[in-house]
Amino acid sequence: MLKNILATALVATIGFSATSEVNIYSHRHYDTDKQLYKMFEKNTGIKVNIVKAKANELMKRLEKEGKNSPADILITSDAARLYIAQQKGLLQTVNSRVLNAAIPANLRQKDGYWYALTKRARVIVYNKDKVNPSELSTYAALSKPELKGKVLIRKANNIYNQSLLASMVANDGEKSAKAWAGAMVNNFARTPKGSDRDQMKAVAANVGDVAVVNTYYVGKLLNSKKTSEVEVGKKMGVFFPNQKENGTHINISGAGVTKYSKNKENAVKLLEFLVSPKAQSMFAEANYEYPVNKNVEPSQLLKSWGTFKEDTLALEELGKNNAKAVKIFNEVNWK
Ligand SMILES: [Fe+2]
Repeated sequence: MLKNILATALVATIGFSATSEVNIYSHRHYDTDKQLYKMFEKNTGIKVNIVKAKANELMKRLEKEGKNSPADILITSDAARLYIAQQKGLLQTVNSRVLNAAIPANLRQKDGYWYALTKRARVIVYNKDKVNPSELSTYAALSKPELKGKVLIRKANNIYNQSLLASMVANDGEKSAKAWAGAMVNNFARTPKGSDRDQMKAVAANVGDVAVVNTYYVGKLLNSKKTSEVEVGKKMGVFFPNQKENGTHINISGAGVTKYSKNKENAVKLLEFLVSPKAQSMFAEANYEYPVNKNVEPSQLLKSWGTFKEDTLALEELGKNNAKAVKIFNEVNWK
């Protein structure tokens, strides 16, 4: 079914042959992205065509299409999936001084297979009415017996959790990561279910006291059209863990040029545009993501949560240790 939808979408968008175009397979689904592509089209005359689906589906499609794939760029919302795409031979290297200058080394693949476009911090949020942030410290501390029955976090199959655990495997070793995951399961307020937003709704509804979520979801709640969601957002305090240790876990949304891209030059141009100060500010303002470009300030909302120390672990490690993280989640029965 999905394949048919994708095929139709592709024919519909790529059917008319623009003289200059770039074709994106993207796991991102935000209005900001659409606006950015429009700006790029206006600036360059290069038509942007986009197919949206889950990263795994897009990768399967790239594999199946092989040399005939119309895709030029793969965009995912997690570093591990970019690593996996690279391992599967779906991407090619890019050599761009613009990209290398804008994006810190730990946020891009060293040979140029993929690049971060935005940063996300996976933080602890807490119910401001119930929790004093001075009681919070690290991801590790969430697994202490004091928090039994109070911790909310989504399922093990979620890539953000897999990447968080993969970072612990890389930083602290497999044994320590497994001990943490096992102790976390003992502290769950409920069997994991729902999205990051749902974890915060559960905190607001007193199902638990703290949750682990990506920062932009707090922004999305605060700016929601539904008053009930705004109320949930207002109840949340944002706490950056591991400040005295390795720093808060960082993940990215990022992109790579596909192995069989037929419009590589346009693809690189688009990636360069997406890390330009203008595009980076838009990601921050409208989608509450942190800029990867060091010269761009985060939005007011992001600034209101304060500055923090980031874990500078090379993001490649999230992909390298993904299988271990999945195995650990299984072993400790994290649903
Ligand atoms: Fe997300």
